[in-house]
Amino acid sequence: MNYKIAVLPGDGIGPEVIEQTLLVLEKVGQKFGHSFQCQKLLAGGCAIDATGSPLPEETLEACKKSDAVLLGAVGGPKWDNLPGDKRPEAGLLGLRGGLGLFANLRPALLNKELRDACPLRPDIIGESLDIMVVRELTGGIYFGARGKRDGKMGQEAYDTETYSVGEVERIARLAFEIARQRSKKVTSVDKANVLESSRLWREVVTRVARDYPDITLEHMYVDNAAMQLVRNPKQFDVIVTTNMFGDILSDEASMITGSIGMLPSASLGEGAFGLYEPIHGSAPDIAGQDKANPLATILSAAMMLRYTMKLEEEARAIEAAVNQVLEEGYRTGDIMSPGKKLVGTSEMGRLVVERI
Ligand code: NAI
Ligand code: MG
Repeated sequence: MNYKIAVLPGDGIGPEVIEQTLLVLEKVGQKFGHSFQCQKLLAGGCAIDATGSPLPEETLEACKKSDAVLLGAVGGPKWDNLPGDKRPEAGLLGLRGGLGLFANLRPALLNKELRDACPLRPDIIGESLDIMVVRELTGGIYFGARGKRDGKMGQEAYDTETYSVGEVERIARLAFEIARQRSKKVTSVDKANVLESSRLWREVVTRVARDYPDITLEHMYVDNAAMQLVRNPKQFDVIVTTNMFGDILSDEASMITGSIGMLPSASLGEGAFGLYEPIHGSAPDIAGQDKANPLATILSAAMMLRYTMKLEEEARAIEAAVNQVLEEGYRTGDIMSPGKKLVGTSEMGRLVVERI
C-alpha cells in the first residue's frame, strides 16, 4: 500500500529524531512492501524564521491531505520572547484544533529492561507495566466559558467544565476500541460524586459500554485514580478521562516509565487520521549533538502504523526491534545506567533499523 505522511521535523532535536524515524519507516516499507511518501513541512520556530508564522497555511493544507502527521518537536529559547499566539507552541495548538484531533493517546509503557528507571518499588511494578491513557483533547474546562466578574469577595475568575453527550460518546468508543486490541479493560475516570458534567460522562460511558460486552468497564473517581496509579498501577489497562484529569493523570502515569525520551503519543480525530509525536520537547540543551533519544519518535511511528494505517504486524516489528536493542544493553544518555552501552541518536536509529 501507498501512504502519505506529512512530516514536521520542527526545532532543536526534532529534525534529529525524525531523521532516524524516517529511516525506520523506510526499512518497514521495504520489508513489508509498503511505500511511505514523506513530505517534509515547516512548523514551529523554523516556520517562524522562514515565513513569520508558526503554522503556515501550506503546512496545514498538506497535513489535511495526508493520511497522518509525524511531528518532532517545536520551540526553543530563540523564540521565547514572542507573544503567546506567535510562539512555536501556538502552531501546535493550531494544528490539533485545525485537524479536529479530539483524543490524545499516551501509553505509559515500562519496558522490562528499564525497570531500574522506574521510581516505584520492584514488587509494585512486577515484570513490566503497560497503561494507555486516553484523554479527551478538545472539550472540558480547557475550552469552556471563562472570564472575570465582580463577586462578593472581590473580583472573581471562572472556568467552566462542559461536556456534551456527543463528545463523551466518541472518546468512550475510541477507548473501548483500543481496549479490544489490548487486555479488554477500561477504567473511566471522573468526579461524578461532585460534578454534573462528570455524572453525564459516567452515564454516557456506561451506555456506550453496552456495545462492547467483551470489555470490562470500571468507574473511578479521579482522586482515587491518582492514588491507585502509585499504589497498584497493574490494575489499569485503558484509562479514559476528561481533558484536565487526563492531562494530570497522563503525566503521573508517564513518570513510572523513567525516561521522557521513550514515550510516544497519538492525537486522533474522526476516522483513521492522526498526529503522532514524542511527548518530549525540542531539548535545546542537547540539540545538534547526536545525544537525543530517538525511540519516543520511532515508537510514535509504530503508533501511526497501528492506529492510522491498521498495520499491526508492522507496528509490532518496530516495537520488537526497540525492545531488542534495549535488551542488548544499548542506551542513549537520558537512560544511561551503569554497565550499559552508551550510543548516540544516529547509532540508536541504525540499531533499530538493523533489527527490523
Ligand atoms: P524538553 O522535553 O525539551 O526537555 C526536558 C529535558 O529532557 C531536557 O534536559 C532534555 O535534554 C531532555 N530530553 C527531552 N527529550 C529528550 C530525548 N529525546 N532524548 C534525551 N533527552 C531528552 O522540555 P523543555 O526543556 O521544558 O522544553 C524545551 C522546548 O521544547 C521549549 O521551547 C518548549 O516549549 C518546547 N516543548 C515542545 C513540545 C512539543 O513540541 N510538543 C513539548 C514540550 C516542550
Ligand atoms: Mg501536561
